[in-house]
Amino acid sequence: MDRYCVFGNPIGHSKSPLIHRLFAAQTGEQLTYDALLAPLDDFTAFARAFFAEGLGANVTVPFKEEAFRLADELTARAARAGAVNTLKKLEGGRLLGDNTDGAGLVRDLTVNAGLDLAGKRILLLGAGGAVRGVLEPLLAERPAELVIANRTVEKAEELARLFADLGPVVASGFDWIDAPVDLIVNGTSASLAGELPPISPSLIQPGHTVCYDMMYAKEPTAFNRWAAEHGAARTLDGLGMLVEQAAEAFFVWRGVRPDSAPVLAELRRLLG
Ligand SMILES: NC(=O)c1ccc[n+]([C@@H]2O[C@H](COP(=O)([O-])OP(=O)(O)OC[C@H]3O[C@@H](n4cnc5c(N)ncnc54)[C@H](OP(=O)(O)O)[C@@H]3O)[C@@H](O)[C@H]2O)c1
Repeated sequence: MDRYCVFGNPIGHSKSPLIHRLFAAQTGEQLTYDALLAPLDDFTAFARAFFAEGLGANVTVPFKEEAFRLADELTARAARAGAVNTLKKLEGGRLLGDNTDGAGLVRDLTVNAGLDLAGKRILLLGAGGAVRGVLEPLLAERPAELVIANRTVEKAEELARLFADLGPVVASGFDWIDAPVDLIVNGTSASLAGELPPISPSLIQPGHTVCYDMMYAKEPTAFNRWAAEHGAARTLDGLGMLVEQAAEAFFVWRGVRPDSAPVLAELRRLLG
């Protein structure tokens, strides 16, 4: 059987095995997919040992940068992202590194949520790995403006510089901005601690602004509760992004695009 896996540490919580097994059952692809706990001090040797037989892997926290360095070749989007969440063994054993996180977010926003991002004012909160990974595909949607706001402003400035050739991207501190935007995407890890990035509620135009938290949980996240309290037209969480980045990885490996809608519905049901 063709072997696939996800590397992470910790990894017990991962929903990727369930998602990929559902994709495989749906498409009739014959494969196995396991969650593997990779050692923090020797990711490279662990990954190489897997690829003696394995054909592909997803990579999650904290190994995306190490996977970037491990890859023998990179897709353009992984090179831009500076991180790899999908590895594929090529003919001859070389490893291709890809990054499907940004494509997953954009597909969740545009296909699942039906948003048209062209000409829109978008605010991205955070400047870590997740935000870096989504900048190229978000800019490809041709927003009027994309503002990256981060607690450590220098990191937002660095990202704005790195992606300036792809579109109208600027950096900001959380308290420098208060004019309403069309879409706010929370890519900080503040929600993990039940915290909120300290931004002005006036960024939300009641009944108009859409708010998206890359994190997801059984209950609405702190950010999405805050957004709803201030009148956001819609609040969306990152479960769709998770399923869509997986669908994109499945396509990279197998050349078959699964139907993500029933899988997302099943994950939402299990989460609830
Ligand atoms: N749904 C999905 O498929 C998916 C995929 C990838 C990531 N994610 C989610 O995206 C989030 C970010 O992940 P990441 O990999 O980018 O993490 P990361 O590289 O560690 O970056 C964390 C970011 O959050 C900011 N931050 C942390 N705590 C904060 C607080 N209390 N207030 C304000 N800002 C805070 C950091 O600001 P500083 O720079 O100032 O430290 C940094 O910009 C996580 O919640 C993760 O679960 C979801």
